Amino acid sequence: MKVLVTGGAGFIGSHTCVELLNNNYDIVVVDNYSNSKPEVIDKIKKITGKDFKNYEIDICDKEKLDKIFAENKIDAVIHFAGYKAVGESVKKPLMYYRNNIDSTLTLLEVMNKYNCKNLVFSSSATVYGSPNSLPIKEDFPLSTTNPYGTTKLMIEGILKDLYISDKDFNITLLRYFNPIGAHESGLIGENPNDIPNNLMPYIVKVATGEYDHLNIFGNDYDTIDGTGVRDYIHVVDLAIGHIKALEHLNGLRIYNLGTGKGTSVLELVNTFSKVNNVPVKYEITDRRAGDIAACYADVKKAFNEIGFKATKTIEDMCRDAYNFVIQNKKY
Ligand code: WQD
Repeated sequence: MKVLVTGGAGFIGSHTCVELLNNNYDIVVVDNYSNSKPEVIDKIKKITGKDFKNYEIDICDKEKLDKIFAENKIDAVIHFAGYKAVGESVKKPLMYYRNNIDSTLTLLEVMNKYNCKNLVFSSSATVYGSPNSLPIKEDFPLSTTNPYGTTKLMIEGILKDLYISDKDFNITLLRYFNPIGAHESGLIGENPNDIPNNLMPYIVKVATGEYDHLNIFGNDYDTIDGTGVRDYIHVVDLAIGHIKALEHLNGLRIYNLGTGKGTSVLELVNTFSKVNNVPVKYEITDRRAGDIAACYADVKKAFNEIGFKATKTIEDMCRDAYNFVIQNKKY
């Protein structure tokens, strides 16, 4: 089976490419490197010892995308490509709507033309907004509080309507919780170019001395220690979840990809310090606008229907995240 991976040089995309190749899928990667680096392609090849085609294109470019489908018999698509920074999306909504929606519509039109009707879509737990109870189930109400999350919700709606119009489509929506960590080789991982929005890459930059301290956004939430609780899932577990979804493509399906466990900011910071034997200085500051107190997944549906269960621990996530940056730090 040949799988087109859009955004395949990105954080989650690259780890999924490794698992696809390890499971003997043929892959074709498309990426415009707007939020990734071309050298990731060679790192995927080095980790797996396998070769594959990759194209540097913007999937909004219909002519170029069409040519890729004409040149390669694509059986299924895993669609990661898209802008994903919540804060940036608030400042630049039109850029997010244009890019994330336009690219997806272009992809779906070209897939349809070539009768490629198998799709796994990279959605996000952000579509649940602020849940009324926990753990979060897939049939919970959906709402969003920022343009990034709204693009994910809009694309889920587009895909549901597409499926209703043509039941030959097999579409699985994967709602990620908080992916962190890196491949154990240290060759691929998450190392944003600019100031990280997310917690783990920020902790890593404090641990390596790039930043003086971490600002913990509030310790007055109704949680175990007052700091925000999230469901952190190792990016390699998340990648394996995509293989499971691919293997079980059948009609329209929706799954949470998480661990089902909540971890607070302070718990993550302390675990990171302990596992890597490195201090992480922090200060408590005000809450971040839009943050919710706690969020973690009900993971039963993915386990029962596609046999997915995350296995890596918070300790694994902390060790692998740090190892990646240490291995790639320019001293
Ligand atoms: C986690 C916790 C913060 C940074 C976001 C997106 C979501 C998804 C994952 C794409 C919270 C606290 C953070 C910092 C802190 N992305 N924090 N200091 O907000 O749960 O989810 O990333 O799909 O769509 O919304 O992740 O890592 O930003 O925050 O105290 O410098 O860490 O308050 O409790 P979040 P996060």
